[in-house]
Amino acid sequence: MIENRKLDHVNIVIEKDVNAHHNYWDDVTIIHQTLPEINYDEIDLSTDFLGRRLKYPIIIESMTGGFPEAKKLNETMAKVAAELQIGMGVGSERVLLKNKDVIDTFSVIKEYDIPLRIANIGAPQLINQKVDSQVTDEDLSFIMDALNAHFLDIHLNFLQEVVQPEGDRNAKGIEQRLYQVCRNFPVIIKETGAGIDYNTGLRLKRTGALALDVAGVSGTSFAAVEYYRAKGMGDKKRERLGQALWDWGIPSPVSVIQLKNLAMKIIASGGIRNGIDVSRALILGADLAGMAGHVMKYASLGYDQLLEEMEMIIEELKAVMFLTGSKNIEALQKKKYIVQGQLKEWLSQI
Ligand SMILES: Cc1cc2nc3c(=O)[nH]c(=O)nc-3n(C[C@H](O)[C@H](O)[C@H](O)COP(=O)(O)O)c2cc1C
Repeated sequence: MIENRKLDHVNIVIEKDVNAHHNYWDDVTIIHQTLPEINYDEIDLSTDFLGRRLKYPIIIESMTGGFPEAKKLNETMAKVAAELQIGMGVGSERVLLKNKDVIDTFSVIKEYDIPLRIANIGAPQLINQKVDSQVTDEDLSFIMDALNAHFLDIHLNFLQEVVQPEGDRNAKGIEQRLYQVCRNFPVIIKETGAGIDYNTGLRLKRTGALALDVAGVSGTSFAAVEYYRAKGMGDKKRERLGQALWDWGIPSPVSVIQLKNLAMKIIASGGIRNGIDVSRALILGADLAGMAGHVMKYASLGYDQLLEEMEMIIEELKAVMFLTGSKNIEALQKKKYIVQGQLKEWLSQI
């Protein structure tokens, strides 16, 4: 069931438009620097993230693994991540704990020289759900070793759990369990498309997590993904729920602006489509920009197509750095921006 679900997700993301109806990154405008006083050829796009050196401030977000086609997708993304020296995560490794035979669909990424590899598990699996099913520390060591991971992503995905038919809906006790896990593992806590607000960010920081990945509203909506799945299954109730919650959550830029005040590493994700969005994310205070849905569409086409698209995104980021007079990422992060429209409205009321 889980494997089919992950395959469904990938197919739906490739074939349908499952984005939020408004992309809030469009409400951020970067101010042009008419006299940049830097040399384009000397612009340094590299960055350090929790001790890992990346050539560009970008990661491919956690997406897949656990079924045959996922191996090829992960390998395509891994090759690109190694070529560009950017970060990469894999999809939830829950399936691997149930079926060790699928290990190569995840571990394939360790064959490539990726400077930042991230293992992945869902927060709901850290506690008991309907049966005694809690993922143990031993399990977590196993899923990290499978990819020789530098960090462990723990994802919060309650929007998805509430919409999907087979969802894990017990969230009681997760916060306490996160304290335990963060003592023993280098943890990044991430959302999956519904964002994180300041107070939750503060609670998550206190658990001992090293970084937060916001994955807010603007891009892939898991309510939308589950809407299409439910429709395919003829499940009218879940279809309606998915549609009703399509745009549920906190916009990605709102999360970044709020969480940067926590003085911890922040990954901006949710709706990043191009190098201008990457620049917007960094200017708003993020340390890295993460991309999932956009990458998956190109990964499904093949290595050359994904590499070309990622190189284009980097080119756009470099152009913005030049046009803002930013000789490195740190300089870009200090530049000015204005917010308009729905994002301005959010910021004035939250
Ligand atoms: C096909 C697909 C599968 C995903 N699976 C996972 C997953 O297993 N674990 C996870 O933490 N996030 C998962 N995500 C969420 C992404 O990592 C990301 O946080 C979210 O999609 C927002 O980014 P985007 O708007 O660029 O797609 C998945 C996203 C997609 C598109």
